[in-house]
Amino acid sequence: MSKHWWQEIVVYQIYPRSFKDSNGDGIGDIRGIIEKLDYLQNLGIGAIWLSPVYQSPNDDNGYDISDYEAIMEEFGTMEEMEEFLFEANKRNIKIVMDLVVNHTSDEHQWFIEAKKSQENPYRDYYVWADPKSDGSVPNDLKSTFSGPAWKFDEASGQYYLHLFSQKQPDLNWENQKVRQAIYDMMNFWIDKGIGGFRMDVIDLVGKKPLEGITGNGPKLHDYLQEMNQATFGKHDLLTVGETWGATPEIAKLYSNPDRHELSMVFQFEHVGLDQQDGKDKWDLRPIKISELKEVLTKWQTELGDEGWNSLFWNNHDLPRIISRWGNDQEYRIQSAKLFAILLHMMKGTPYIYQGEEIGMTNTAIKDIREAADIETINMYSERLANGFDKDEIIESINAKGRDNARRPIAWDMSENGGFTTGKPWIALNENFRDINVEAALKDPNSIFYTYKDLIQLRKDHPIIVWGSFKLLDTVDNVFSYYREYEGERWLVVANLSDETNEFSSEDSIDHIIIQNSEDEIISLENITLKPWQAFVVKTK
Ligand code: NOJ
Repeated sequence: MSKHWWQEIVVYQIYPRSFKDSNGDGIGDIRGIIEKLDYLQNLGIGAIWLSPVYQSPNDDNGYDISDYEAIMEEFGTMEEMEEFLFEANKRNIKIVMDLVVNHTSDEHQWFIEAKKSQENPYRDYYVWADPKSDGSVPNDLKSTFSGPAWKFDEASGQYYLHLFSQKQPDLNWENQKVRQAIYDMMNFWIDKGIGGFRMDVIDLVGKKPLEGITGNGPKLHDYLQEMNQATFGKHDLLTVGETWGATPEIAKLYSNPDRHELSMVFQFEHVGLDQQDGKDKWDLRPIKISELKEVLTKWQTELGDEGWNSLFWNNHDLPRIISRWGNDQEYRIQSAKLFAILLHMMKGTPYIYQGEEIGMTNTAIKDIREAADIETINMYSERLANGFDKDEIIESINAKGRDNARRPIAWDMSENGGFTTGKPWIALNENFRDINVEAALKDPNSIFYTYKDLIQLRKDHPIIVWGSFKLLDTVDNVFSYYREYEGERWLVVANLSDETNEFSSEDSIDHIIIQNSEDEIISLENITLKPWQAFVVKTK
């Protein structure tokens, strides 16, 4: 496998709405991100995945785009976007744009036209179907945001498909004109000097909705090969596909370099492990660390040279990992560092979600009126109507709701954490006076510096990027593995538990690479790991 820059860096995801507000309207913006580029450079990241900044009515916070070549007013202007690209590139930080092309907003000009009549030239940009003879929906496909995936358009007498909200009509990728318009738009951004694309729910674009097929449709990979040729294939860009439900075999279809599709997949198998089988994300069961080990090991070992994976615990759709599988109270700092060490020592491209590097936590709501996310709000009404218990619904929202990840970053201890001088669009975490960037930067033992060290280690040691992976046989809650490269061997040990646990290995220690406690580790024989202890040693 020839080597690429995007295999050796760490990506940082920015959700602009919640990152930094520069003009006091309570909404983060591009100028705010520019102000914080030095902070990100200090952390050491090589690229930013920028959640959507395009013009949008914000039904789904920018994932409903009404103009792909304009910037959302609340976020700034195209001139500011260009300044941001310039300032980031100056610091060797590439900007990976979110590419949301499974659907547009219903306020996109294409859809406004398409709705006018069945004969409109844009009609076929979207997916339409006649009602059944009794007037009902064409089939029982469901929207991810609750209810049917079909919405009746009175004026033109057909249903349109929306796999997400009613304001996110699905594009019809079978129409060659749609694909060409998307490629032109991608080239518009490539010409501006971006570093790549993160492709929103890209596994859905090959859908055959009338046959009930949504993910992994028959033409999906043909389209991606065509897209590669028509756009980024000529440049070495980072392209990462959001690929729900990918297996390692499917991941190779996307990311085997010989196939000329994408750089890497972003798949969710490990973060779905606390979900009840066959149910949806709100139906929880406790995580089993043995299963987490099994799944992560599978992804570490099965891609070989034929694919590339992303490494992550968090993003803007997921609850914060330390509140979810760690301990965000007594062991907040240790468990945050443990999750960082465990992941950043693996093979793949790591992604840090904003606020993760300072150990931000989830925030519980008591009442649905505190929720902002359309997915949460729709699910609440749906489940309430279906007879679920109110407290139980709120409990699942607190565990899994997307607002958990969308609370503004606290930059300091001042009012509203220095995020805004106005009224934040969503409240900050209540603990922001303890958990903020200023405090993290001041404390040499903070979570921030563990992330910074891990990023530097990846730059200095090819074993992290290219080494082989082997899981060690340990007690369930201890996760331990070797990395090996050119005669060198590193051992990673992590105790994912509030309890102590035993660990033993015959390896002798050359030196400690990184750890999350002050403990002196002299031998690996029969040691007792403290709660949430994690370390990495080079063996000899
Ligand atoms: C996945 C995105 O990450 C999520 O935030 C969004 O709601 C859906 N795709 C629809 O675009």
